[in-house]
Amino acid sequence: MTGPALDAVDRVLAELPETPAVWCSGLRKRYRRQTAVDGVSFTVGRGEVLGLLGPNGAGKTSVIKILLGLVRPDAGEVLLLGRPARDPRSRARVGYLPELFRYQPWLTATEVLDLHVRLSGAAVPAAERRECLALVGLADRARDRVGGFSKGMQQRLGLAVALVARPEFVVLDEPTSALDPLGRADVRDLLLSLKDRNVAVLLNSHLIGEVERVCDRVVILDKGRVAASGTLPELLGRRELRLRLDGVGPDAEARLAAAGALTRSGDAFTVTLPAEDDAAIVPALVADLVRLGVRVHAVEPGRISLEERLLDILRAGDTEEHP
Ligand SMILES: Nc1ncnc2c1ncn2[C@@H]1O[C@H](COP(=O)(O)OP(=O)(O)OP(=O)(O)O)[C@@H](O)[C@H]1O
Ligand SMILES: [Mg+2]
Repeated sequence: MTGPALDAVDRVLAELPETPAVWCSGLRKRYRRQTAVDGVSFTVGRGEVLGLLGPNGAGKTSVIKILLGLVRPDAGEVLLLGRPARDPRSRARVGYLPELFRYQPWLTATEVLDLHVRLSGAAVPAAERRECLALVGLADRARDRVGGFSKGMQQRLGLAVALVARPEFVVLDEPTSALDPLGRADVRDLLLSLKDRNVAVLLNSHLIGEVERVCDRVVILDKGRVAASGTLPELLGRRELRLRLDGVGPDAEARLAAAGALTRSGDAFTVTLPAEDDAAIVPALVADLVRLGVRVHAVEPGRISLEERLLDILRAGDTEEHP
């Protein structure tokens, strides 16, 4: 296509309502004899937090670099905020925390942020930049040179850099690997606040509990391919509700059975709830049980953890290859 035709394509793309933060299809990348990415496709919607999971060498960082236009794929297409990944207009609205990075050690934290704001071209006032440092817990280190920062402090600064220029899409490649437990909890809150502001997030982390708590959807990569993807309820399947009850009459038992498949062992009842994540099911059930004269001692939701599911998927992939 020639220049004017490309411009026209651009205009059409930019005018589409709410293009996803990322759309990619059929991504492939080989490094010499090593296939890093092998036919990967997925979408990250606006305001959605997507978790990218998989073992070391699965291709997660390679996919991220392709999405950001930092690595050219051998095949496949990417639209970043509705535009080709290499378009500087989309890049300016993306915040990126790389997996491995070092800032110029002679700069102070404030100077690093200033530099990135200038590079992004966004007009971010000094007060907002200071707030951003405070948000990652570096307010009192703003004037210190980053050469003397601890590993976790560097990672916090990296997060501030990813967030400072008011991005519409944030890509975090292992944002909490060096953080202390408090820092990890802060990042969780931070991700949820981004989501509230309709900012999309792609989160790559080996801390699966973390992914499970914040992500709307998960893509699991294994050997360069998408081994599984979906919302957490889709991936984790049915939910179970374990209850300890007494005074359960026939009406109450019928009510329990209406909520899902019921098993009973003494005062312990287990209801297998439908897979859809309807937050109203459990409170409505408990209210009805109480009304029917049941004494409710314990209500415990349960389902297999994402970690168990991930291990199942990866092990199944292994046995397929070496039967
Ligand atoms: N620049 C490169 N040159 C050669 N091979 C590379 C390069 N980058 C990635 N690879 C290879 O591609 C594969 C995927 O690497 P990638 O960094 O994407 O994995 P990852 O899923 O991010 O792993 P980790 O969890 O360890 O960060 C690996 O086999 C790696 O050796
Ligand atoms: Mg990686």
